[in-house]
Amino acid sequence: MPEKSMYEKSLDLFPPVALRATQLGVVKGEGAYVWDEEGKKYLDFASGVAVVNCGHNHPYIVQKAKEQMDKLIHGGHNVVYYSSYIELAEKILGHVGHDYKIYFSNSGAEANEAVIKLAKQVTHRPGIISFKHSFHGRTLATATLTASNAKYRRNYEGLLPSVYYAEYPYATRTGLTEEQEVARCLTQLEEIFHDLIEPEQVACIILEPVQGEGGYIVPPKAFLQSIREICDKHGILLAFDEVQTGFGRTGKIFAYENFDVKPDIMSLAKAIANGFPLSAIVAKRALMDQWPAGTHGGTFGGNPVACAAGVAVFELLEGGLVDHAAEVGDYFKQKLLELADKHDEVLEVRGLGLMIGIEFVDRNGKPDGDLVNVIRAKALEKGLILLSCGVDHNVIRFIPPLIVTHEQIDTAFALFSKSFEEALAETDQKIQAD
Ligand SMILES: Cc1ncc(COP(=O)(O)O)c(C=O)c1O
Repeated sequence: MPEKSMYEKSLDLFPPVALRATQLGVVKGEGAYVWDEEGKKYLDFASGVAVVNCGHNHPYIVQKAKEQMDKLIHGGHNVVYYSSYIELAEKILGHVGHDYKIYFSNSGAEANEAVIKLAKQVTHRPGIISFKHSFHGRTLATATLTASNAKYRRNYEGLLPSVYYAEYPYATRTGLTEEQEVARCLTQLEEIFHDLIEPEQVACIILEPVQGEGGYIVPPKAFLQSIREICDKHGILLAFDEVQTGFGRTGKIFAYENFDVKPDIMSLAKAIANGFPLSAIVAKRALMDQWPAGTHGGTFGGNPVACAAGVAVFELLEGGLVDHAAEVGDYFKQKLLELADKHDEVLEVRGLGLMIGIEFVDRNGKPDGDLVNVIRAKALEKGLILLSCGVDHNVIRFIPPLIVTHEQIDTAFALFSKSFEEALAETDQKIQAD
């Protein structure tokens, strides 16, 4: 009998909760490629969900992590200080500003837990405002903030109290002009303040500067700027979840730089250490200095090896990778826009940098998640890994490593276009057969 594949073995070992976008068993990664257990090579346009921004096993990051491993693998930030922890803090704050401080933890959800705790701790206010279609994690508190799918809450209800949900602008869906859409969302926020919780009771407003899981939705600058003004007016802290948007993904080191709006608090994770588990909360010094010792913490946060990798990531980003991401992102988006022009099934191509989404609809203009599934499956057969997003799963998200070349983008585009064509032909055949 042939040896079972990793996928087949996993059926026996793991619960269905450990969902995977593919059945690939991967044995090696290098740059924009991974290889499966049968030796087949794939162009990875998922990047482990926006994590390996510098590419798989980037040699400089590997070297820096190895050097750190030779010196110290764990110190425990509650026990001692070590240099990679301090160096990474200096790098990130050097970019964000020295009126901020940073605290490291392990995952995006953990960083967002810290956002909630810090905001409540310093404001003494109970309320949090999150946004519909947002994703902030799956721990109990962050599952409360998350509002992109009811499945994240099913049977877990009775979550964090005093969380309210505002509307995130998505003019493509509502059919309004950008200005009208911003006005609609701001009016709904005012209604929350009027009907449900007074603004003086709200500790923080948390949002993704570009919604990720919700569908790669880029809000108008005016919206984020208005939210900043509303926060300032009422003493509400503005928190940006930059877990998916951070570290060069949107063509800037952090997405907030695209909108000329600076948050009071920011959560970081995913690409921060190019695959080593690490996350952080960055917040205004005046807030951080009020966070009492011991009221938050964790054993592994800010692991020395992860921090050493993080320093290497930052050096690469500052050394030209972010500019490259912005440039190849525009190149790729242009190609997708030209394709979209020829097909009514494409509702929109959108995104910043190399965080690009393409949204699909059916003949009746309704979200077409089935088409997305067929395209993704066909692309995978051809050696291209793609993920979907959007509350109706009808958006394909392109999140290649930022080191991706023009040539690799051309290849990915050709594979994607072919898969799209084949999926359309299949759908046509099905409609005729019905
Ligand atoms: C915007 C955003 N916030 C938070 C999270 C949760 O991060 P983690 O899976 O590391 O807990 C994610 C993960 O996809 C995310 O995209």
